[in-house]
Amino acid sequence: MPNILKTKIKRVTKAVFPVAGMGTRFLPATKSIPKEIMTLVDRPLIQYAIDEARAAGIKEFIFVTARGKSALEDYFDHSPELESALRRSGKEDLLEILRDTNMDSGAIAYVRQNRALGLGHAVWCAKRLIGNEPFAVLLPDDVIAAEKPCLQQMIEAYEQTGGCMVAAMEVPPNKTSSYGVLDVADDMGSILQVRGMVEKPKVEDAPSNLAVIGRYILTPKVMMNLNRMKQGAGGEIQLTDAIAEECKTPGNVFGFRFRGQRYDCGSKAGFLQATVAFGLSRPDLREEFSAYLNDMVALQKAAQ
Ligand code: G1P
Repeated sequence: MPNILKTKIKRVTKAVFPVAGMGTRFLPATKSIPKEIMTLVDRPLIQYAIDEARAAGIKEFIFVTARGKSALEDYFDHSPELESALRRSGKEDLLEILRDTNMDSGAIAYVRQNRALGLGHAVWCAKRLIGNEPFAVLLPDDVIAAEKPCLQQMIEAYEQTGGCMVAAMEVPPNKTSSYGVLDVADDMGSILQVRGMVEKPKVEDAPSNLAVIGRYILTPKVMMNLNRMKQGAGGEIQLTDAIAEECKTPGNVFGFRFRGQRYDCGSKAGFLQATVAFGLSRPDLREEFSAYLNDMVALQKAAQ
């Protein structure tokens, strides 16, 4: 097991949500709506990430946005007219759903990323709001269905290890070039001690098939590293490179094999898979939807 730190580990109460990406993979939809507002069943992608962060005890939510993302800011506002119309018509259930999406005044901050220089740069944009505290980063494209929310699992593990922690998952070796990939020094089961990280390596150069998934707990030191990061893979400033700097000191960076199912909602196929999975997990939809899917599969088979 990793060293249990003698010093008290600071609680993680701030989270950064990089949402400045243009979402070109979902054009033409993303011409006018931010990708993070696209819905899985009836909730925007961003809501899943927010709920996960809240469940893990996050109190301050920092969005790194860009031009064209105002729908995202509006989404988190209270909607007094809609709420009073629902109240007048006695739709308490819908009111409750709306209330769950409201964020407290002052709990959200928006920072603008003026140029698309990469994930590392996006996180760096939140530097002043983070200050000298550990913080979480959640990439809303990665939706994780889990009994205990992924970030909560990580925070519990981080309370034992300190340092930086990244969510990790085995991927097929031929897919490693799509991810940050871990070089593992010590595999302790759910916690892995990491001695290096490479962003989108060529398949033949990947140090393992353990991919980084979009949940991170980072020390303020990573922000300092980002200050001097140069362009990395794909010509972008990479968060992976700033975390990799920390790997030089053993026991500073850990991977965490989370329990849950991850959906890559940054890809069309992943988004469709998540839609089916979340649709089937909904008690109000399950019966009708699974009957439909069974019919579809039978029809496809018959046509072959
Ligand atoms: C980002 C990170 C990468 C990580 C991935 C997880 O890549 O740079 O290290 O493995 O998210 O989804 P992106 O998918 O934004 O290219």
